[in-house]
Parts: sequence; structure tokens; C-alpha cells
Amino acid sequence: MKFTSELCVAASFALTALAIPVMEKRATPTIYLAGDSTMAKSGANDGSTDGWGPYLSRYVTVPVVNKAIGGRSARSYSNEGRFTEIANLVKSGDIVVIEFGHNDGGSPNSASDNGRSDCPGTGEETCTSGKDGSTVYTFGHYVKAAAKTYIAKGATVVVSSQTPNNLWEGGSFSTSAPRFVAYAAQAGKEVGSGASFVDHFQAVLNAYRKLGNAGTNALYPKDHTHTSPAGADLSAQAFAQAIKLKLNGTTPIAPYVEAGNPTVW
Ligand SMILES: *[C@@H]1O[C@H](CO)[C@@H](O)[C@H](O)[C@H]1NC(C)=O
Repeated sequence: MKFTSELCVAASFALTALAIPVMEKRATPTIYLAGDSTMAKSGANDGSTDGWGPYLSRYVTVPVVNKAIGGRSARSYSNEGRFTEIANLVKSGDIVVIEFGHNDGGSPNSASDNGRSDCPGTGEETCTSGKDGSTVYTFGHYVKAAAKTYIAKGATVVVSSQTPNNLWEGGSFSTSAPRFVAYAAQAGKEVGSGASFVDHFQAVLNAYRKLGNAGTNALYPKDHTHTSPAGADLSAQAFAQAIKLKLNGTTPIAPYVEAGNPTVW
């Protein structure tokens, strides 16, 4: 008996060692989220607003780790080492969603450069910060560099366009998208193998069109960018529906969308 159980212990150690070779894909991927306040868990103490990231786990079958932080742009998230923090966590087979845009506008050349504005353009143009003289790159540069780091680790990347602001503000429906929506699509395409794109902006736009003026305005209790928890949940539902429908092509999240999710457009 003793001999047998010792053998069993030895065998199970051997199996454990075999089961975790370095580049083996995880049986269950983890989805990491990189983004700003519209994705982050809200810091608002009164619970009036929230980001959509915390709601995503309701609509997918795999764990979600939300690394979004309020106030960040692709540039500041990069410069603060936040993309690197995720790179240090991802394992082969994991999925990283990158969604920025709300804080990426403005001019880095100005003396009051806020450390968030990207250099305008879509390629390898550079700007010089009017505040500290540092080199500033484009939105696409920051997103593509991060994506390539994750892909090199065996992960896959979903570049997601930013959520819209209140598209029914003032009572009429707007469909115009900020330039970062197209930038995100281009970045996803340019990274190539291992990267994909989902137009989260378009998905939420579709949901707001269906919801209408009063329903959409009710989701914005404070300003035209940050939604109520119900609005954040709707953004997560719209994201999951876009993934399921392969709105802008197949993403690696598609196999992990829950059956029976709500249809919001
Ligand atoms: C994503 O796909 C939808 C549906 O075809 C389309 O309306 C939208 O323009 C696409 N987004 C981009 C940025 O190409």
C-alpha cells in the first residue's frame, strides 16, 4: 500500500510538471481590460456612475480582470507602465481588450500639455510635449506597441473603439464618431495576426438608437461621458452582442460569450 501511494504521489508530481509547460495555452483564458473611466469600476462614492468593465463578466464564460483606470489615455496608460503591468500578467492563450479615446484628444504641443493627448495622426509621427519636451507618439503607436507585446507572449488582442458620449444629448440623435474610433480600427488591422477589432462605439450607438431619446438621456446622470450603472451594463451587453455577431470580424472572445445574453439592438 505504502509503495503504491508513493508511486501515486510521484506520478502526480510528474503529471503536474508536464501539465504546465511555459507556452501551453491555458484551458480557460483570462480576459484583461485596459481602458479609462468608462471601463473602470467607478470611484464615485454615491454609485451614480460606473464603467462597463465590471459588468462584462455577466456576459462571458471566462474570468475578467479589469485594469482600466479613470483619466487615462493610450499615452498616459503607456507612460505609467500600465500596459507593461498587464504584459507581466498575461499567459499564453489570454485575451487583452484595449479601449481608449475619451482622454486622447487635445494638443501635446501646448505648454499646458496634460500628459494624455496623443500626437495627431495614425502612423509614426511624433510630437514634442510643450510642457516637458518629451516625445509624444500617436494613438496607434501606443496601442500597436502594447498589442505586439501581448501577442509575443502568446496572448491575443481585441482593439475596441471607445464608448460614445450621450448620442441623444439635446434631444436629437448623433451618429458622428470621434477620430479615435477609426484610429482603433486601423491599429487593430495594422498589428495583423493575433489582433482583432470590435467597434464598441457602433454597438452602443445601435443600442442607443433603439433605446431612444428619453431612455438614453436617463443613463447620463452627471455629464455626457459617464453613464449610470444601468448604462454601463448596457455598454457591456452591446459589447458582448458585437462580439457574438462578429460585427467587425471574429475576435478571440467569441467562443466565450454566454448563451442567452440580452439583445440590445
Ligand atoms: C464595424 O462594423 C459595422 C457593421 O458592419 C460598421 O457599421 C462599422 O462602421 C464598422 N466599424 C468600423 C470602424 O469600421
